[in-house]
Amino acid sequence: MELLEVRNLKTYFKTQKGMVKAVDDVSCSLSYGKVLGLVGESGCGKTTTALSIANLLPPEGRIVGGEVLLEGEDLMGLSAGKLRKKRWKEVSIVFQGAMNALNPVMKVGLQIAEVLMLHDKLTYEQAMIRTKELFKLVEIDEERVNQYPHEFSGGMKQRAMIAMALACNPKIIIGDEPTTALDVMVQAQILNLLEKLKNEINMGLILITHDLSVLGEICDDVAVMYAGKIVEKGKVEDIFENHQHPYTYKLMNAFPNIYGERKLSDSIPGNPPNLLEPPSGCRFHPRCEFADERCKTKEPMLAEVGHRHFAACHYGGVFK
Ligand SMILES: Nc1ncnc2c1ncn2[C@@H]1O[C@H](COP(=O)(O)OP(=O)(O)O)[C@@H](O)[C@H]1O
Ligand SMILES: [Mg+2]
Repeated sequence: MELLEVRNLKTYFKTQKGMVKAVDDVSCSLSYGKVLGLVGESGCGKTTTALSIANLLPPEGRIVGGEVLLEGEDLMGLSAGKLRKKRWKEVSIVFQGAMNALNPVMKVGLQIAEVLMLHDKLTYEQAMIRTKELFKLVEIDEERVNQYPHEFSGGMKQRAMIAMALACNPKIIIGDEPTTALDVMVQAQILNLLEKLKNEINMGLILITHDLSVLGEICDDVAVMYAGKIVEKGKVEDIFENHQHPYTYKLMNAFPNIYGERKLSDSIPGNPPNLLEPPSGCRFHPRCEFADERCKTKEPMLAEVGHRHFAACHYGGVFK
């Protein structure tokens, strides 16, 4: 059975101006011990996808269609009480600014121990033992459990947040731009840590980023999101070496490659569209130099272009 299956997910936000179709028919899956990368520019629906999976949407956001199956069980079919438990036990999110969520006047170790006491009903002593184990796992000296957040570096704080996310042995961790605010060296350390954890613990990891270059070394599969839809998905090597969608191609060229060489960055002109009124046809057509009449009027479906490789472009591959 698949660890996670998202089928035709649609999540909309109700706003004064109308419905924002933030996630519009997204399907993806994740197996145990694997890493799925979710990539796309800001505003394409990555965070909304994550929040939908973890059932953490704000009140104005609603899943209006599709299914989120965790080990075959549809999250939408569960009662509110059961869901709240699942959220901690089974899906944890580490956000970009997570480290700033630490309480500055409380010892870091105690903040993690509290999660364990609350959700796993551990005693204080048991929780502190487990917290030290978690510190070791995320490579923080266990003596630091009694330190306050200001005594931690940014990277250490983010690792402490990963420890907190791991506290209840989730089946899935979602890192939503978990390294974006950190400098390059620390980014690499955090990514190495996540990869180590994925290998040591049989969990699934979803890594969300706007920077395709961070995905190369750690992901098994990559899904590229544009304007609320997945425009291409496949094995990481297919996305890096054999991409079929012009948007993926542009993303590849807009960022330094995985070896850190900064190619001349022809970043993608324009911005992702407003999702109140997405463009007709292919949502990428206004920014696509290859678009023609057909792209303006007919929406391309995700089609299989290779083994486990899908792209939604009328002219997949021909633009290269
Ligand atoms: N609470 C909200 N209310 C209304 N619109 C929202 C809300 N949160 C996100 N959106 C909109 O949903 C779209 C997707 O946003 P988001 O999922 O945050 O994208 P990403 O994480 O890829 O940057 C954007 O158009 C954004 O403006
Ligand atoms: Mg986001």
